[in-house]
Amino acid sequence: MTNSTMVLHKAAEILENVSPVLEDEIICAYVRPFLTRRQAFLDFSARHGTPVYLFDENVLLQRAQEFTTTFSQEIPGIRAFFALKSNNHPVVAESLVKFGLGLDVSSGLELETALGTGCEHILFSGPGKTKAELDLAVSKPDVVTVLIDSFGELDRLEHVARGRNVVVRAGVRLTTEEKGLWRKFGVPLAELESFMTRAGKLEHVRLCGLQFHTSWNLTPSAQVSFLIRLGERLATMNRQQAKAIEFLDIGGGYWPERGEWLHFSATPQGRITHSVSPDISQADRYRYPAEPLESFACKIGQALRHHIFPHVRCEVFTEPGRWLVNDSMHILLTVVDKKAEDLVIVDGGTNIVGWERFETDYFPVINLTNPSLVERNCFIFGSLCTPHDVWGYSYLGEKIEPGDILMIPTQGAYTYSLRQPFIKPLAQVFPL
Ligand SMILES: Cc1ncc(COP(=O)(O)O)c(C=O)c1O
Repeated sequence: MTNSTMVLHKAAEILENVSPVLEDEIICAYVRPFLTRRQAFLDFSARHGTPVYLFDENVLLQRAQEFTTTFSQEIPGIRAFFALKSNNHPVVAESLVKFGLGLDVSSGLELETALGTGCEHILFSGPGKTKAELDLAVSKPDVVTVLIDSFGELDRLEHVARGRNVVVRAGVRLTTEEKGLWRKFGVPLAELESFMTRAGKLEHVRLCGLQFHTSWNLTPSAQVSFLIRLGERLATMNRQQAKAIEFLDIGGGYWPERGEWLHFSATPQGRITHSVSPDISQADRYRYPAEPLESFACKIGQALRHHIFPHVRCEVFTEPGRWLVNDSMHILLTVVDKKAEDLVIVDGGTNIVGWERFETDYFPVINLTNPSLVERNCFIFGSLCTPHDVWGYSYLGEKIEPGDILMIPTQGAYTYSLRQPFIKPLAQVFPL
């Protein structure tokens, strides 16, 4: 079979599968609570103007409570460190620190934000940490645990810690996929013992933990399968080394239960269709469901008990980002121009979320000024000079007119922290 025949076969197989449609009732159930509170959101936009992020601290704290309760039931003593990269607004971090969470940072910049919150438990992970970043970490040895990404970084950390004459607490990040893009993270499992041996000879790095992170997980299977692999490795490790492991950090990667909502063009069928005939579009939206958090906690807890704890009795850390913060911020926009019944321009560009999110992801655009649960087709464009500046292809409302206030709820994760000052100003964040 030639390559192109193989590709055609595979494409045909994919096209024959049908992605699960996102039903109207699910959209209505999601929108209704926001419509109920519409006056509060309208008052907010009158106070602060648009485009703007509305931060609802109560929602954030409820999520934090639910997360810690659910995981603690399955994994007693588990400690959560909020992944700052998912939303780097200092008020979000401060709020979670006050609640009792630690922080997970991935750069010197994030570390500075985290230190500014007064947080006393910070994990610093990520590839390619510079000497200046390591030095900042080492300057707070009682607060920061460095999750080392490579053998080279182990040596650099020792050097920097020696320079300050301190002993730094550290873990090592393990590679979860030895092939492809995820190879860039961590040390392969096969090299764990030699890494620990090398660290054991150093005076200024106290290696006492392991970390891994798998991402974009609609189910816990990626975490569970890595725990099984890790357990097999730990089973053969010498007792002395196993005893040195005080914590296992299982990363983040918990998808909110609502699941992933996509336009046709982002489904496997849509991607193929669009690459061949870009004009074919489909109004339907699709939903890839996520397992509830209880299921993540339960299956990961079981995997820890079966595969890890028989070999290593350690504390468990986790680094949730998206699950905690996603629902705590909403975006408000104003319609500036109505160019046709089915085409409006709003005052904010998607530079405030930093990527062309809404070309692929579907989120309801709610017209707070002219409310209705009926969804009408209409291009909702931002005001940047690029056709990719799209907020949606429909809105829920009675009609849409210049001056209307539109809301795109649940935009707290991987939006604000990716914002970029491109053409238009950035949106500010205000508490509700
Ligand atoms: C090391 C690490 N931990 C935690 C997270 C947070 O992941 P999520 O927001 O999916 O929970 C990330 C995200 O990329 C990460 O790279």
